[in-house]
Amino acid sequence: VSVKYAHRTGYHFQPPKHWINDPNGPMHYKGWYHLFYQYNPKGAVWGNIVWAHSVSKDLVNWRALPPAIYPTKPFDINGCWSGSATVLPGNRPIILYTGIDTKNHQVQNYAVPANASDPYLREWTKPDNNPIVDPGPGVNASAFRDPTTAWFEDGHWKILVGSRRKHRGMAYLYRSRDFIHWTKAKHPLHSAPKTGMWECPDFFPVSKNNANGLDTSALGQGVKHVLKVSLDLTRYEYYTIGTYHPDKDRYMPDNTSADGWSGLRYDYGNFYASKTFFDPVKNRRLLWGWANESDAVQSDVQKGWAGIQTIPRKIWLDSYGKQLLQWPVEELETLRGQNVHMSSVKLNNGEHVEIKGITAAQADVDVVFSFSSLDGAEQFDSSWLNAQDLCGLKGSGVPGNVGPFGLLTLASEHLEEFTPVFFRIFKADDQNKHKVLMCSDARSSSLKSGIYKPSFAGFVDVDLSDGKISLRSLIDHSVVESFGAGGKTCITSRVYPTLALLGNARLFTFNNGTQTITIETLDAWSMNRPVMNQALE
Ligand code: FRU
Repeated sequence: VSVKYAHRTGYHFQPPKHWINDPNGPMHYKGWYHLFYQYNPKGAVWGNIVWAHSVSKDLVNWRALPPAIYPTKPFDINGCWSGSATVLPGNRPIILYTGIDTKNHQVQNYAVPANASDPYLREWTKPDNNPIVDPGPGVNASAFRDPTTAWFEDGHWKILVGSRRKHRGMAYLYRSRDFIHWTKAKHPLHSAPKTGMWECPDFFPVSKNNANGLDTSALGQGVKHVLKVSLDLTRYEYYTIGTYHPDKDRYMPDNTSADGWSGLRYDYGNFYASKTFFDPVKNRRLLWGWANESDAVQSDVQKGWAGIQTIPRKIWLDSYGKQLLQWPVEELETLRGQNVHMSSVKLNNGEHVEIKGITAAQADVDVVFSFSSLDGAEQFDSSWLNAQDLCGLKGSGVPGNVGPFGLLTLASEHLEEFTPVFFRIFKADDQNKHKVLMCSDARSSSLKSGIYKPSFAGFVDVDLSDGKISLRSLIDHSVVESFGAGGKTCITSRVYPTLALLGNARLFTFNNGTQTITIETLDAWSMNRPVMNQALE
């Protein structure tokens, strides 16, 4: 089979061909989940951007509809860029998106369903009173985009628009009584020095008390807020948890994590331009993110496609209130087929054990590892500030004490190729404290040269007192999407094996630490193919 097809995903969202980027305007309407996304109808590179449109009953099986929003008017003739949906009272959806106008300025437009009784919302109308927000004096017209879902507060709708002033990234705040006439607040809701352009800001409430999601307008005692931004300069995102002061039009991050480059990330791998929405059906907040290719651009063109959406994740506040937790939507489990189960298997130093009996190129693996003592753990050096650099230094083959242990995904028979997803536990300076590194290392993923193979990694802020740590990986031909410690640290890698393809791909667990690791439980499933973007009749 040609790699043109072998690297296509089986259950991650993909259109039949061409380029995709950001997820846009996710919402639920009349029984259907709607996902729009940035799409080039003419090729596998970025350009000619329209809003492609798919619908699903279960977030797993998708039907494709014709593009919903595409350039037709002076206010969007050069592109229909990212934006968000808001469902107004009375179940009336409205989309805000960035149009690239005749002068190549970025302006914010609205669109409404042409026929609200159509549950597929196939056609959208862009009224002639657009644009409704233009950059105005003092704002860089080529850095003013990606309006958020609106929230309602004190008689007004409020939105953010991403921007920058010189090197300061910012989220401008606008308010409106009627969704048409918008007034800019005196100052941005929030900004941070030296972060550059803030693309795709997302601002939403999370509950302090449980994992349920909240409507975007929720406020009050039991609520914290999250502000996420996507940093154009390095193509990664960070978020903070904080307090929203509606009366002052300000958001104040808690000082529990950095508000800048070293801040918390939803995903320490290939994951960008993400967006959440409130799902009223299951009372949860869901997160969508785009995973770009890391193959060579010519290969994208040869394959005829580029970009996938990651599996939608439920997202909620960790009970300590310092970070978010994420988990693949439960609906994904309907695709689980053939299962392999293991328990109480010892992994001695230097061992790797194959998990046989499933389709390793298209699988879901969920494992709990345990260790008996952290006494001999390697000492953490406080100069190791960057997890990705540390993973580069301490890869899966570098012997340790507690770890490295984990999975070898998308592996060839003799391990010429493999993408290891693993933990390594260090002793930190402060008494009884440990530092946990999680890696998803693409360096050994492919014999092919000239592609981006980063040693993605993040630290895991987890309590190890029960002697256990869990790992779930969603493996899908050219993507490995992993969730460490129940969704505390997530890493998505895009990889392009040449040998570990389709039926030749294998899955192993491994341990390269002197301390024996036990697989408490392991379940691996072959994943079935959902209906993926067949045209809806
Ligand atoms: C993020 C982004 C957005 C923009 C869109 C254009 O990936 O650059 O800022 O609206 O993509 O396709």
